[in-house]
Amino acid sequence: MTALVEVLPYIRRHRARFLAGAACIAVEATVSALAPLVVKFAVDALRSRATWGTITAYAGALLAVALVAAFFHYLQRMLVYDAARSVEAGLRHDLYARLVRQPPAWFDAFPTGDVLSRFTNDLRVVQMALGPGARHALGTLATLVLAVAFMLWIDPLLTLMALLPLPAVSLVVKLMGQRIHRRSEEAQAALANVTTAVQENLAGLRVVRAHGREEAERIRFRGHSETYVSANLRLIRIQAFLSPALTLLLGLSFLILLWLGGRRVATGAITLGDFVAFTMYLGMVSWPMIAFGWIANLFQRAAAAMGRLNRVLLAEAAIDDQAADPAARITRGTIAFRDVMFRYGPDRPPVLDRFTIEIPAGTTLGITGPTGGGKTTIARLIARLYEPDTGRIEIDGRPIAEYPLAVLRAAIGFAPQEPFLFSETLAANLAFGQDGEPSANGGRGQLEIEDAAAIAGLADDVAEFPAGYDTMIGERGITLSGGQKQRAALARALLVEPKILILDDAFSSVDTETEERILERLRAFMADRTTILISHRASTLRAADRIVVLDDGRIVESGSPNDLAAADGFYAALRRRQRLEAEIERA
Ligand SMILES: Nc1ncnc2c1ncn2[C@@H]1O[C@H](COP(=O)(O)OP(=O)(O)O)[C@@H](O)[C@H]1O
Ligand SMILES: [Mg+2]
Repeated sequence: MTALVEVLPYIRRHRARFLAGAACIAVEATVSALAPLVVKFAVDALRSRATWGTITAYAGALLAVALVAAFFHYLQRMLVYDAARSVEAGLRHDLYARLVRQPPAWFDAFPTGDVLSRFTNDLRVVQMALGPGARHALGTLATLVLAVAFMLWIDPLLTLMALLPLPAVSLVVKLMGQRIHRRSEEAQAALANVTTAVQENLAGLRVVRAHGREEAERIRFRGHSETYVSANLRLIRIQAFLSPALTLLLGLSFLILLWLGGRRVATGAITLGDFVAFTMYLGMVSWPMIAFGWIANLFQRAAAAMGRLNRVLLAEAAIDDQAADPAARITRGTIAFRDVMFRYGPDRPPVLDRFTIEIPAGTTLGITGPTGGGKTTIARLIARLYEPDTGRIEIDGRPIAEYPLAVLRAAIGFAPQEPFLFSETLAANLAFGQDGEPSANGGRGQLEIEDAAAIAGLADDVAEFPAGYDTMIGERGITLSGGQKQRAALARALLVEPKILILDDAFSSVDTETEERILERLRAFMADRTTILISHRASTLRAADRIVVLDDGRIVESGSPNDLAAADGFYAALRRRQRLEAEIERA
């Protein structure tokens, strides 16, 4: 339950509405508790031959009670639900704000499905506790206190006897409620499997067909479907048991009332009006007994959900501006790694081990080597997406942690091998990095979207798109080819006009000729910038001032393209292979 403490500040923000709602609940409960009294006096009046006028007066009183209660019911519901939804919105917003700041390492440890279920299920449960939960808790408590008070006033002994079976109602609801919840979670999970199976089959339609897996998939799907049905049956079995069990227990109360109460009326200890009112109060009390079990479960679940939300809400961003000098700016773009050791997790092997390199400002460093050698990791470390375990990374002679993240990242243009484009227009996608911190490093805004697209070799493609740069990309628009995506990502990186340009295998889906034309155009752009060119093509790497071959986190070859070509190592082999391939293609 302590996890729920974290929700208090959000409640406090909307406390006026919560308090007003509580006041309305109290008024509604009080007014409603008067109804049986009116009936009592009406019944007693009937026995002593009431006039038409008195009966009308009692009927009018009942109507007034009902109207006032209905009005306050409306008010309290509006107020409390409104406030609960506002708390939920605040939580959701903070959750999102926290997520967009977490570094990638955080998400490596936090599966996407997990994060999504926090956004949906956990938030909903907390909202349920604060809205319906809080409303019913207060309403039933008020009703219970008032009804029992009136019952005691009418007949203390009868009250005790009639209420005897009722705590069992709360207990049954509480215990069965837990079981029902557990089974409904199982049914939910089974349904999720069914949905995932359908979704994956739609997404992987071509793969399923190509491998002739339709029948196998159908059988697998039937398995999921059957699990879902049996989970639901288990749920229905217990749900079906709950309602008769409650009816039985409540019936017991009324049995006691009829039996004992009837005798009290017969002996004249209470009036018939008392008896009728008593029956109505007992009816009012049975709902709270059911509600308390339900509310207890709801708050327990809300506490668990809030505990999970807190793991996101209270997570410190591991990479932040703590050590930054707000005035620090990147003006040249010299990069240095000094004895850097890095691993993706404490129990993983080091990707880089005592890695040292110096990249002078304005030069181009080519990096190549076998897959998994650590090339991408180097790019990520420069952008401070991850932080080294030991050693230092410096830009312009200062550790990168001394630059505000906004400054550091505005200085880096990063074109990844597998770019991500949003469901937006092409123009919005290309301009994605621009609205961050316009002049963090001074001098920005020379390059137009069209220029960047032209350099990146995307302009001709755009001319063919239905709406040019305003064409929608993604599920709601056109699908770009792998090469088009890579060139779009390159244009996006160029538009940042960065001091440091990192091309991480950014041409892998672009054919060699197109790539060479792009590199030709890029030359002017790269002239006064530091470039890191990661590639598996000898022809690409030729554009570098210096090439390093990275294998298993260590530099195994290093030198100018000409030096390496003569050295008969990885690069020379790469070069020979590419020549051979070109010759075969020509033949
Ligand atoms: N997010 C990650 N979590 C855990 N391990 C990773 C992650 N990204 C890369 N690795 C591992 O780090 C090593 C280096 O990967 P990477 O830098 O991508 O190599 P390259 O770009 O040279 O192919 C590989 O063994 C890879 O499996
Ligand atoms: Mg890579």
